[in-house]
Amino acid sequence: MNAQPEEKKKTILSAAQPSGILTIGNYLGAIRNWALLQERYDCYFCVADLHAITVRQVPADLRRRTYETLAIYIACGLDPEKNHLFVQSQVPEHAQLAWILDCYTQFGELSRMTQFKDKSQKHADNINAGLFTYPTLMAADILLYQADLVPVGQDQMQHIELTRDIATRFNNIYGPTFTVPEGFIPKTGARVMSLADPTKKMSKSDENPRAWVSILDPRDVVIKKFRSAVTDSGCEVRRGEDKPGINNLIAIYCAFTGKTPEDAEKEFEGKGYGDFKAAVGEAAADALDPIRTEYARLTADKGYLEALMKQGKEAAQRRAGRTLFKVMRKVGFAQTDGK
Ligand code: TYM
Repeated sequence: MNAQPEEKKKTILSAAQPSGILTIGNYLGAIRNWALLQERYDCYFCVADLHAITVRQVPADLRRRTYETLAIYIACGLDPEKNHLFVQSQVPEHAQLAWILDCYTQFGELSRMTQFKDKSQKHADNINAGLFTYPTLMAADILLYQADLVPVGQDQMQHIELTRDIATRFNNIYGPTFTVPEGFIPKTGARVMSLADPTKKMSKSDENPRAWVSILDPRDVVIKKFRSAVTDSGCEVRRGEDKPGINNLIAIYCAFTGKTPEDAEKEFEGKGYGDFKAAVGEAAADALDPIRTEYARLTADKGYLEALMKQGKEAAQRRAGRTLFKVMRKVGFAQTDGK
């Protein structure tokens, strides 16, 4: 009997910005899913440092957090032998393709991006052009690798929709060039809300440290932060339209334990918010303990992380270079070296 040829794996690309220590929002919304998908896809995971400078960064902090973010990826379960892990600024093709895509993206489209509107309100003294064109850089990240799937949290779906529009537009003008990617969000944890204000997304750049739980917070801090999470009036552990605090905590509890919201409500019937918040804290801390231990081991060896960066950069450039070459030829740039 003839062996079936192994089907070519589809490609994934995703990324996180090293603009702060990653939170359980980043973990539940994105990184945990990346780890679940890594066996079935050819995966490129990037530390998006070019994106991070759309907001002013302290250079030494940005550099340190780039290493830390890479270590967090691995500590969260991404196998560096099976995935291509790399740093965005080390692959210049991202910035090159972003410029080209800028010329195929409308001002109106970028003006409608929610993240641009939010961030320009938050950083009113620095509404720079990079903040505005951020989504075309993100489109370049994705399209360079001909990614089929982009696993992200809910907040990034609008950017992926725009990426699809840009890819389709380019393909319509020049013929098939880019794979049009699909966004992919998890069933639970796609939008983890702030613990201090559950009507707002949990964000690593929130100045109030009680608003977020970092992937690296020690156990007692995790438990304490959940204990002081803002809840709603009433005392029943039950979801409701006017209960953003409890809805958020139930979602986090379910994401960490694999239970359904109905199960969670039943489990805490007759119990108060205090008991429930303690249980959510314990569940989160149990999941984060091994990640923190592995992270400490990895960051102790900077040489290892640097070797991985180098390896990731080479693999990323091989793939990205091919796409960029094709795009440049189609657009009409004179090229003297073939790919
Ligand atoms: P960033 O760095 O804000 O977040 C990284 C990933 O975490 C998800 N996420 C959340 N999910 C659930 N609840 C939350 N509170 C939460 N906060 C963040 C994000 O949706 C994201 O998936 N622009 C991107 C980074 C990026 C990128 C890309 C992503 C750059 N290039 C190409 C995908 C493909 C960003 O700022 O993510």
